Amino acid sequence: MATATMQGNPAMAERPEFVDDVTRAFLVMAMFWGVVGFTVGLVIALQMVFPVLNLDLEWTTFGRLRPLHTSAVIFAFGGTALIGCSLHIVQRTCRARLFGGAPLGWFVFFGYQFFILIAATGYVLGITEGKEYAEPEWYADLWLTVVWVAYLIAFAGTVFKRHEEHIYVANWFLLAFILTIAVLHITNSMSLPVSFFGAKSYSAYSGVQDAMIQWWYGHNAVGFFLTSGFLGMMYFVIPKQANRPVYSYRLSIVHFWALTFMYIWAGPHHLHYTALPDWAQTLGMVFSVMLWMPSWGGMINGLMTLAGAWDKLRTDPSLRFSVTAVAFYGMSTFEGPVMSIKAVNALSHYTDWTIGHVHSGVLGWVGFIVFGTLYYLVPVMWNRPRLYSTKLVAWHFWIATLGIVLYITAMWVSGIMQGLMWRAYDELGFLQYSFVETVVAMRPFYAIRALGGLLFVAGSLIMAYNLWRTMRGDLAVEETRGPALSTARA
Ligand code: HEM
Ligand code: HEM
Repeated sequence: MATATMQGNPAMAERPEFVDDVTRAFLVMAMFWGVVGFTVGLVIALQMVFPVLNLDLEWTTFGRLRPLHTSAVIFAFGGTALIGCSLHIVQRTCRARLFGGAPLGWFVFFGYQFFILIAATGYVLGITEGKEYAEPEWYADLWLTVVWVAYLIAFAGTVFKRHEEHIYVANWFLLAFILTIAVLHITNSMSLPVSFFGAKSYSAYSGVQDAMIQWWYGHNAVGFFLTSGFLGMMYFVIPKQANRPVYSYRLSIVHFWALTFMYIWAGPHHLHYTALPDWAQTLGMVFSVMLWMPSWGGMINGLMTLAGAWDKLRTDPSLRFSVTAVAFYGMSTFEGPVMSIKAVNALSHYTDWTIGHVHSGVLGWVGFIVFGTLYYLVPVMWNRPRLYSTKLVAWHFWIATLGIVLYITAMWVSGIMQGLMWRAYDELGFLQYSFVETVVAMRPFYAIRALGGLLFVAGSLIMAYNLWRTMRGDLAVEETRGPALSTARA
């Protein structure tokens, strides 16, 4: 593809009062961590088909690479994208320079990247607290607390000194994300270090309390990190891309309060049929089922924002990502409440059905809303009238969508089959299948999942290339014809 350097658009000229360098650095790192995290996901998916890929080395076993994958995608990719976008959103919607200016912004940036590095090296070396999504040991936990409080001060300080009377709804969702994650992280990470150089600690809680606090944390990490934060992104980027106001502002406020109130109670659905008191399990189930309503309220609000502008889906492939993300959000927030019903959970728990549910949420919702936002924000932040190539965006979209469909359908089939095989009895009352027979039956589906993952990784590489060329100011030859596309707006 031939390239041409683009002229800067005066409408998008950088506003000197905003701290934009920090946002740009976050966006570049989000792209980088995305590619790394998805690739590690692909590696562990392949390990499940070909166990020889564990390489017989302790550092590369599935057990160590799995938390590397989950943390790389959630905290490194998702977190970096969230913090970067939130700094952009809060400054624009409050019409105020970042509180603490560039020094505080850069502290948050380098502090957070340093946290990622010390957490990740710990996983590979086998240093872990063993709590899912909260694996880092005490030294990394302490450092994250410092950085997170700095982030809270920068964000909330900007909201306080705003020049807009109203606090736009995206900021409500982002503030809920920042505050709740602080409370969850501090409470769940309470532990007693027992060695300094061995970096080992034991949880301050024990037994069933420990489990309950862990899943109160785990579920609300989904609720406030993977949902609330990205909803803040959605409420900013979809109206921007569609160039229309939010469909119902009143609904967005109801969405916010209902979601915030209900999520916090739903954690026990991760501990059905355990030593947790039965009433707590039922409470978790009831709140999870109720969560369906605000979740779909938000989905409808996001989709209806496009009312009267649906034609943009044809011309603006980056909008396709955001809209498909909202559709996946609707799908996973329907599936989640169903899985939280105890009778359904009796089949789905411990099976690949959960993995399918997770990845319809994280690939479809989290992944796609970030991609849509990056395709919107990169031209804006680098002051380019449009993306390097919209054709490549379309390629990315179709390849990644196919990848997700392969991934989640394979996991649904494999999970339900696995659950049914575990509970099948013969006429004498003996288990019909041995465990290893279920593993053998799942192998073809693991291969399909790995293929889906490969496509997702390929799509993300296309994105990284496209965004990098956009940052440089290049334009693919087909893009030099016709008017500027709606992907680049101030
Ligand atoms: C190329 C894309 C991806 C591939 C191939 C992939 C693959 C995998 C695999 C093989 C597992 C382990 C499943 C098991 O233990 O049985 C896993 C777990 C997980 N992945 Fe991914 N993944 C991808 C992208 C993502 C993304 C983008 C996110 C989040 C933003 C994510 C979040 C998770 C989580 C939370 C788990 C743990 C699920 C659980 O314990 O129930 N993954 N992934
Ligand atoms: C109304 C919304 C939702 C409800 C009620 C819900 C409910 C559930 C349930 C019942 C489980 C299985 C627990 C188990 O058997 O162990 C689960 C697992 C999970 N869900 Fe959801 N879900 C919702 C939305 C989402 C979304 C949007 C995402 C991602 C963006 C997500 C990510 C996860 C993850 C990562 C797990 C695996 C946790 C683990 O065991 O490691 N969920 N969810």
